[in-house]
Amino acid sequence: MRIGVPKEIKTHEYRVGLTPGAVREYVAAGHTVVVETNAGSGIGADDGVYRKAGAVIAENAAEVFATADMIVKVKEPQPSEWVQLREGQILFTYLHLAADPAQTKGLIASGCTAIAYETVTDGKGGLPLLAPMSEVAGRMSIEAAAVAMRRYNGGRGLLIGGVPGVEPARVVVLGGGVVGTHAARMAVGLGADVTVVDRAIPRLRELDEMFGGRVGTRFSTIEAIEHEVFAADVVIGAVLVPGHSAPKLVTANMLKSMRRGSVLVDVAIDQGGCFETSHPTTHDHPTYEIDGIVHYCVANMPGGVPVTSSQALNNATLPYGLQLAHGGFAAVMENAGLRAGLNVHRGRITCKPVAESLGLAYSPIEGGMAA
Ligand SMILES: NC(=O)c1ccc[n+]([C@@H]2O[C@H](COP(=O)([O-])OP(=O)(O)OC[C@H]3O[C@@H](n4cnc5c(N)ncnc54)[C@H](O)[C@@H]3O)[C@@H](O)[C@H]2O)c1
Repeated sequence: MRIGVPKEIKTHEYRVGLTPGAVREYVAAGHTVVVETNAGSGIGADDGVYRKAGAVIAENAAEVFATADMIVKVKEPQPSEWVQLREGQILFTYLHLAADPAQTKGLIASGCTAIAYETVTDGKGGLPLLAPMSEVAGRMSIEAAAVAMRRYNGGRGLLIGGVPGVEPARVVVLGGGVVGTHAARMAVGLGADVTVVDRAIPRLRELDEMFGGRVGTRFSTIEAIEHEVFAADVVIGAVLVPGHSAPKLVTANMLKSMRRGSVLVDVAIDQGGCFETSHPTTHDHPTYEIDGIVHYCVANMPGGVPVTSSQALNNATLPYGLQLAHGGFAAVMENAGLRAGLNVHRGRITCKPVAESLGLAYSPIEGGMAA
């Protein structure tokens, strides 16, 4: 198969769909990989590195879209990219269609076969292609909080771990899933006093075991959240209710009872955010202040560390991408995980939650649709 990798064009997106290491794997398996010139500049991999890995370099995106059987990207395609996709072509990337009717329309009109990283499942029902970015964002959230806590950035002026004789910062993590666990790991590593709040008791048990009692755990109730948040220096928002917008666990009113200069990091901002006062920010201007509380709400946190993120993403996507390259659409039909990732196929929406969220018709692929 001919695999195409266009340069990402979304603002401040420095990741790349295939790293040079991944290109080698596709080429070793007998596929051809076409990479747009400078596609890897954000991770420090120039055209020469890609050529050495076995890629063919294309002068522009049009050449990549026109000649590839499968396009591998990172972010959802932009309007100038929808129109270059065509029937029979596979698109393998993050899509987040449930909140994006315009892109959904564009993909339907293209006739392409769009597989969304974020809905691909593994044998345990997990989301293996979403997890690596949650790991990155969880770890970054504590770095972001540490910077925001500096006095000159509007924070209280606390060092996360304190020093001998001086108490550390209190870090409260709302949601103990992938983001929350990695945030807790970083916070513990820096010496913070850490508590994780989750509504799943089995998860709290696992965290208790995992951290050997070094992390406090609390069952999620309004009372517990108020108690923890009012005493916190840093609150990490890391909840997810799959398919829904994030619950607003910290209300605007609650900010008034928090310590001035405390920091809220809303990692769940891509699902609407779990603090009532959150709105999306960018790496250019990551924070803002309301009632003296610093908010950090960057919606594409992993984009800020593209070298780590591209590698982590490629580690996870490679086995699925290779299956698609070998089998084409047949691989989707044979692999339940890839089938769960299929969002749009030949002008129809094949992912139920996406169809429901957008109020559009759902066409299950088992329903006899032509491949
Ligand atoms: N901003 C970014 O750049 C970025 C990057 C990666 C992930 N994310 C987002 O971070 C969020 C978390 O992702 P994840 O992979 O950790 O999800 P996850 O499913 O692994 O974990 C979510 C956790 O939230 C818990 N939860 C749900 N409702 C709760 C409630 N009311 N109170 C307490 N806990 C509750 C669940 O029990 C679960 O343990 C998602 O919205 C994801 O899209 C954002």
